[in-house]
Amino acid sequence: MVPGAAGWCCLVLWLPACVAAHGLRIHDYLYFQVLSPGDIRYIFTATPAKDFGGIFHTRYEQIHLVPAEPSEACGELTNGFFIQDQIALVERGGCSFLSKTRVVQEHGGRAVIISDNAVDNDSFYVEMIQDSTQRTADIPALFLLGRDGYMIRRSLEQHGLPWAIISIPVNVTSIPTFELLQPPWTFW
Ligand SMILES: *[C@@H]1O[C@H](CO)[C@@H](O)[C@H](O)[C@H]1NC(C)=O
Ligand SMILES: *[C@@H]1O[C@H](CO)[C@@H](O)[C@H](O)[C@H]1NC(C)=O
Repeated sequence: MVPGAAGWCCLVLWLPACVAAHGLRIHDYLYFQVLSPGDIRYIFTATPAKDFGGIFHTRYEQIHLVPAEPSEACGELTNGFFIQDQIALVERGGCSFLSKTRVVQEHGGRAVIISDNAVDNDSFYVEMIQDSTQRTADIPALFLLGRDGYMIRRSLEQHGLPWAIISIPVNVTSIPTFELLQPPWTFW
C-alpha cells in the first residue's frame, strides 16, 4: 500500500480523485458546477441512476437547481412552479428514488439530483435502482453525497436564495484545474 495521501485515496475507491489519478471506474460519474452562490462555486460529482431515468441530451450552461419543498419530494411540491424547466434538488428518504424522479418530472423538471440524507456522509455513492412498481421515468436522476447536498442547501439558506445556478453536465477532462475545483470538504 502506498503511504500518504495517495494510499489513503486508493483505500477509498469511490473518491472521485482516485478515478482521475488511477483510472479506476467504480461508478460512472456525472459532474455539475455551481455558478452561484459564489461560496459553493465548485464542481460536484454525482452518479446517474443505474436502471431508470433518462440521459442529458443537451448541456445546460445555466439552469436553476431548486431545493424541492418538501425536500423528500414524495408528493405534491409546494414550490413546483419554480421547478418547471429547471432541476430539482431532493433528499433521499420517504419513498423510492423512482417515485421522487416521477414527482419532479410531473412538475416539469428537466432532471433531479437526489442527495443522501446522511448529511455527514462524504464518501458513499448509493446505486439508485428501480423499485418494484414497473413504472418508468424519462428525466435524468442523479445521486449526490449527503455532505454535498447539505452544503448546497445550507448556502442557499444562508443567502436566502430559492435556487442555485449550475452548469450540467460538465466535461471535466477539458478542465485542467478540475481537482482544485472540487469541494474542499470532500478532503476533510
Ligand atoms: C457512509 O455510508 C456508508 C453506507 O451506508 C457507510 O458504510 C459509511 O460508514 C458512511 N460514512 C459516514 C462517514 O457516515
Ligand atoms: C471532453 O473534453 C475533452 C478534452 O477537451 C475532449 O477530448 C472530449 O471530446 C470531451 N468530451 C465530450 C463528451 O465532449
